Amino acid sequence: MDKKLRVAIIGTGNISNYHVKGYKALPHLCDVVACCDIDLDKAKAYASRNGIPAVYADYNEMLEKESIDAVSVCTWNAAHKGAAVAALNAGAHVIVEKPMAMNAKEAREMVDAAKKNNKIIMTAFVRRFGNDADFLTDFIKGGTFGDIYYTKATYLRRNGCPGGWFGDKAYSGGGPLIDLGVHVMDLVRYLCGSPKPVSAFGVTYNNLGMDRAGSGEKAWRANPNGMFKYTVEDFASALIRFDNGMTMQLETSFNLNVKKDCGVISLFGTKAGAVADPQLEIYSDMNGHMINIGMTESTALSFDGLFEREIAHFVDCVVNGTECRVKPEDGVVLMKMIDAIYESAATGKEVAIDC
Ligand SMILES: NC(=O)c1ccc[n+]([C@@H]2O[C@H](COP(=O)([O-])OP(=O)(O)OC[C@H]3O[C@@H](n4cnc5c(N)ncnc54)[C@H](O)[C@@H]3O)[C@@H](O)[C@H]2O)c1
Repeated sequence: MDKKLRVAIIGTGNISNYHVKGYKALPHLCDVVACCDIDLDKAKAYASRNGIPAVYADYNEMLEKESIDAVSVCTWNAAHKGAAVAALNAGAHVIVEKPMAMNAKEAREMVDAAKKNNKIIMTAFVRRFGNDADFLTDFIKGGTFGDIYYTKATYLRRNGCPGGWFGDKAYSGGGPLIDLGVHVMDLVRYLCGSPKPVSAFGVTYNNLGMDRAGSGEKAWRANPNGMFKYTVEDFASALIRFDNGMTMQLETSFNLNVKKDCGVISLFGTKAGAVADPQLEIYSDMNGHMINIGMTESTALSFDGLFEREIAHFVDCVVNGTECRVKPEDGVVLMKMIDAIYESAATGKEVAIDC
């Protein structure tokens, strides 16, 4: 490549700090040349912290003036589609934070815009870049599990409603299902070879709401002038069927009367099973005896370098044409699963998923 990528960040909140760190780790390949947030003061502070020369409050203006090659969309969920489509139409490749969009219809429009402009759109499914995912992949590829037919994707917080826009369906699209569940649902589906979901039966509840009585802990996020209304579920559970016969049991919460927070991936196959909680353990039988296998190295998810690996992969795809680990369609499929779970929770019926 003869010139460095000109990168822009749209949305300069919490997660954008991880994106910019990822780009700054690749100074030979890219420069972050502009950033944008509807909160201009926030964008200015971010730009000054990170040495970004150009700051905007409007991404359309930024895209028009800055000749951008690649964009990180790090806004709240309701703005993902608008920002991503504008960036794609301006000729930029896009990495968009999870969840890809508010729903599958929006996600489809984003993929269509990427195709029309012949550009990459990658949903930032960061868990695909985790060390735990690498360990599990090694064993899956080695045939350790045989056919995986039952899986569990668990991401529970006992007392962890982020509040702010995360709690307002108009900005987030939903609660823990779309915010946390999406991570583990995608990871399990990805590890298992990305089968197509065919139906979902789901339930959602909002019994504990935003603040836990007696805990003294309040939601983490700001709610300036009462801008956001708490309108999302605090717990969701679902059983999802896939076209290869596999099923996935999902459990996710912002608030739940459970002993402790947990993020657990479980895979059960014809030859062996595995639970990552957080250390990976494998269960099978040998010589007529039940055996549990642990690893001598640490296999628990480490955040060390996690986001940097994700951003480096995106840049590698843009610069070198490397095949993207996250297909455009993967974001849409996850949104279809989420749409179906919400519909099932509302109707009490199993909902078919057309992929
Ligand atoms: N991968 C992960 O582990 C992870 C963790 C946290 C958040 N996220 C995702 O990252 C995204 C952002 O979350 P966050 O925690 O950084 O939120 P945040 O509230 O800290 O930041 C979001 C920013 O987007 C800005 N924004 C909203 N609409 C905009 C628009 N039209 N143009 C420009 N800026 C706009 C807001 O002003 C805000 O500053 C969400 O989609 C969230 O789901 C991912």
